[in-house]
Amino acid sequence: EVWNPNGKYRVVSTKPMPGTRWINLLVQQDCRVEICTEKKTILSVEDIIALIGNKCDGVIGQLTEDWGDTLFSALAKAGGKAFSNMAVGYNNVDVDAATKYGVAVGNTPGVLTETTAELAASLSLAASRRIVEADEFMRAGLYDGWLPHLFVGNLLKGQTVGVIGAGRIGSAYARMMIEGFKMNLIYYDLYQATRLEKFVTAYGQFLKASGEQPVTWKRASSMDEVLQVADVISLHPILDKTTYHLINKERLSKMKKEAILINCSRGPVVDEEALVEHLKHNPMFRVGLDVFEDEPYMKPGLADMKNAIVVPHIASASKWTREGMATLAALNVVGKIKGFPTWSNPNA
Ligand code: DGY
Repeated sequence: EVWNPNGKYRVVSTKPMPGTRWINLLVQQDCRVEICTEKKTILSVEDIIALIGNKCDGVIGQLTEDWGDTLFSALAKAGGKAFSNMAVGYNNVDVDAATKYGVAVGNTPGVLTETTAELAASLSLAASRRIVEADEFMRAGLYDGWLPHLFVGNLLKGQTVGVIGAGRIGSAYARMMIEGFKMNLIYYDLYQATRLEKFVTAYGQFLKASGEQPVTWKRASSMDEVLQVADVISLHPILDKTTYHLINKERLSKMKKEAILINCSRGPVVDEEALVEHLKHNPMFRVGLDVFEDEPYMKPGLADMKNAIVVPHIASASKWTREGMATLAALNVVGKIKGFPTWSNPNA
């Protein structure tokens, strides 16, 4: 699909993206916009090289693509100056390679913070109240009357939520769980957590002033402390060498037998094989997963586990957010091409 065929700058999007704002923005800036409408979901490096062709000023790409040396070299050869992932995470992008070839890299933080946190909160609720199991039970025609023991789950109020990685999304999730469900908080962040600290301090003063029952919070000195104490644990780190298999067999064994683990970050943060084993041996342990180690596949056994809720990487999938991500990605690319300020450049 081509928009503004006579535009001066050729910008390629490897996928159709929601809304038209991003297209209008590029067209207004004299770009010829080419959108790949190839049916296959994941494009190979060869597919993308063909899309780049001989002249390409910038590319908007997706987290399913492998943006390494080969692609950045091809883009630079075609005169490309900019690449933006339509995602906040950019573990699929070799930023050093891009820098080597003089290509600026962009990502799309901010617009997906609340949407992603809302999915983590939804999975937390769904897991604690066994909503998916109960839905399956109803549809299977098994409900034959109210029973005191039917699908008894946990009350979040008064339990402790553990947040690992208190950046934008982790902090938004923590706020939702504290304010919405009056959970106590324990969190761990290697880098900084001032955003969350400011909120919990102010919220504590508010609760005190309004005479409400206080909630407690703590910045943990180790990740293990969170694992041991929390009833619901949500993972929000970036994926890099240090967070690969952050949750492994040993760490799973430190969690409470009835804990809930939520992952809306990146699949490889959890050792999924170890997780399947843990789920098998601990039927009261539950997980809510939006991401998988070998996406789009699940490790053998995971799909059979009643104590797992699995959804297909949809944490940022609200209309407003996806349109916002597309617009930011377009801004990143055209901004670099035309020398305007860009939204976000990890290698700026
Ligand atoms: C991201 O942006 O990194 C998400 O995984 C997709 O929205």
